[in-house]
Amino acid sequence: MKVAVLGAAGGIGQALSLLLKLDLPAGTDLALYDLAPVTPGVAVDLSHIPTAVTVTGYGKEDLNKALVGADIVMIPAGMPRKPGMDRSDLFNINAGVVKTLAEAIVQQCPKALVGIITNPVNTTVAIAAEVFKKAGTYDARRLFGVTTLDVIRAETFVGELKGKNPAELTVPVIGGHSGTTILPLLSQVAGVSFSDEEVASLTVRIQNAGTEVVEAKAGGGSATLSMGQAAARFCISLIKGLQGETVNEYAYVEGDGEHARFFAQPLVLGKNGVEKLLPIGTLSSYEQQAMNAMLGTLKADITLGEEFVKNN
Ligand SMILES: NC(=O)c1ccc[n+]([C@@H]2O[C@H](COP(=O)([O-])OP(=O)(O)OC[C@H]3O[C@@H](n4cnc5c(N)ncnc54)[C@H](O)[C@@H]3O)[C@@H](O)[C@H]2O)c1
Repeated sequence: MKVAVLGAAGGIGQALSLLLKLDLPAGTDLALYDLAPVTPGVAVDLSHIPTAVTVTGYGKEDLNKALVGADIVMIPAGMPRKPGMDRSDLFNINAGVVKTLAEAIVQQCPKALVGIITNPVNTTVAIAAEVFKKAGTYDARRLFGVTTLDVIRAETFVGELKGKNPAELTVPVIGGHSGTTILPLLSQVAGVSFSDEEVASLTVRIQNAGTEVVEAKAGGGSATLSMGQAAARFCISLIKGLQGETVNEYAYVEGDGEHARFFAQPLVLGKNGVEKLLPIGTLSSYEQQAMNAMLGTLKADITLGEEFVKNN
């Protein structure tokens, strides 16, 4: 098995690579690629941790070598937010980054499972899909926007509020990955009930959790450690799926298009990536209203990505 991390020298990339070095199955090759000159050094540093995962660093010119034969590609490459920025403000820089990386995936590992972390995820996933489609390699089961951070944040905040162990909670989060498109389904949390006020304030907190970190880091970037953990969890689930286990996760994927072309939803992972899409279940009237109100934004974000590939 080979896992490539593109953007591996960044805040998320380093945290993710560390966790993968610790948690990937024995015998896995971990390929680290980034434009930053420190990348080979990050790989040497990680390679001193005694696990049976081989780490190799690839510099600016070696994207193809990093990708060749990869089974899984995780992409946290690109600019993070600063205070006052919306995820959509990152589009101008990150759209081109994701397009370039997707074009290299087409050449080197067209069958890889690809997890996109780079924001704005609502749009960058559509960019990758369109690049793959143009090349004739697109398989919707193999492309994911990583929204795991929304799920783990929701579980943490519900645990805090209700005095429960977050590790024992499951909180569905559907839709997209920015602002109101992030829709936690608090009505579906087993064994916990909320007042209307709690639902309203928790929903907003989960939607703005990324901004909470951006403001607390005061110009030093956005979530990297929690995102590293979320991405590692998702990557390990992809690995388990490839190894024949059935694993349940949430991710932003192209599904049946009922709500939007791409939609974060529960799914089962398996040998081909998405094995099965699961229903989102019954929404409360609050959740249904929130969903109706955000679909326009989500669809516009997706169109932006589709148009970007058409015009570039
Ligand atoms: N999906 C999510 O839930 C989520 C959460 C937090 C952050 N993010 C996003 O993840 C991205 C990375 O965040 P970060 O905090 O790690 O940023 P960072 O600036 O610390 O790291 C980004 C890395 O990407 C590298 N890079 C830039 N262009 C590249 C290219 N063309 N090829 C390879 N590497 C390239 C940079 O050199 C840098 O090392 C941002 O877009 C951020 O908004 C997503």
